[in-house]
Amino acid sequence: MNRFSTKLLAWYEEHKRDLPWRQTREPYVVWLSEIILQQTRVAQGLPYFERFLSAYPTVKDLANANEDAVFKHWQGLGYYSRARNLHKTAKRITEQYKGFFPNTYNELVKLPGIGPYTASAISSICFDEVRAVVDGNVYRVLARHFDVESPINQPKGVKVFQELAQNLIATSSPGEYNQAIMEFGALHCTPKTPHCSSCPFADSCLALAQGNIAARPQKLKANPVRKRHFHYLIPLDSYNNTLLTKRTHKDIWQGLYEFPLVEAPHHLSEEDLRAHPNTPTWAHKAVWSKFQEKAIIHKLSHQALHTHFYILENIEEELSVPWATVSDYAVPRLIERFLDKFNR
Ligand code: ADE
Repeated sequence: MNRFSTKLLAWYEEHKRDLPWRQTREPYVVWLSEIILQQTRVAQGLPYFERFLSAYPTVKDLANANEDAVFKHWQGLGYYSRARNLHKTAKRITEQYKGFFPNTYNELVKLPGIGPYTASAISSICFDEVRAVVDGNVYRVLARHFDVESPINQPKGVKVFQELAQNLIATSSPGEYNQAIMEFGALHCTPKTPHCSSCPFADSCLALAQGNIAARPQKLKANPVRKRHFHYLIPLDSYNNTLLTKRTHKDIWQGLYEFPLVEAPHHLSEEDLRAHPNTPTWAHKAVWSKFQEKAIIHKLSHQALHTHFYILENIEEELSVPWATVSDYAVPRLIERFLDKFNR
């Protein structure tokens, strides 16, 4: 074994966190933890992991669940395609694989929502396949230790890191090694203030020697953020019913519920909104009030949603959703936050 992985495994043995998914090599549990931990920190993901697993203790339970219920358990974690793909893959494993998880990288990577990272994690942790994972932590640790200049958001750079990682992995314990390097990135070689003075790699870290720690990993300038303008209408009839619609089109939040929405290429004043062709006719006779004067700017990874909410009272038609049941629906965080504040 190389010096890098020997040291890394020794560090891990001493410092690893005691996390529930480290108590098992059950692929369903490892898969769930790895999907949650993509885009989510351990502290935030942990309660979701526990709740999800008690709601769906086996892959079969998840396969038999209703998609809306799966989304509801996911609510607040964001990146909802992860939940949709979990459900799809659970169904496929139950139906096509008789409930048994495929046990190789090549089979795993064919499943919805399982890309090279997740297939590497599951196959190494559960089945001892020698497949190096590359996630944000791994990029950072390797880019610093080996002072790698290649940008991590370019195909060429991705390949450089994938090969480097694969060359370093401890072949006798690939799952431990993969978790060790991610853990080291998460706890020690952290993005902003890494603990270089107490680092076991201080004598071999090339970026440290070159004064390049802050510059690694290198990233090319990201795409500009897309600005969108959302105008939500919250209708209320005299029985305190409202309306929710399910987002079904291929866009953000597919499968989640929201209030009637008018999206426009630019901000609409109340007057413009009332006259907008997509504003439903029931809105015309309602009593309008604006929830908050200033736009609420909800940021996603590549979008900024400039949002206004309007409360529309005295709707004459009877609406289909009793206000008290709104909390049963899986809604985007933007709506959840509105509901917390509006709190009718
Ligand atoms: N981040 C994502 N998965 C991880 C794991 N298995 N160990 C440490 N950090 C992780």
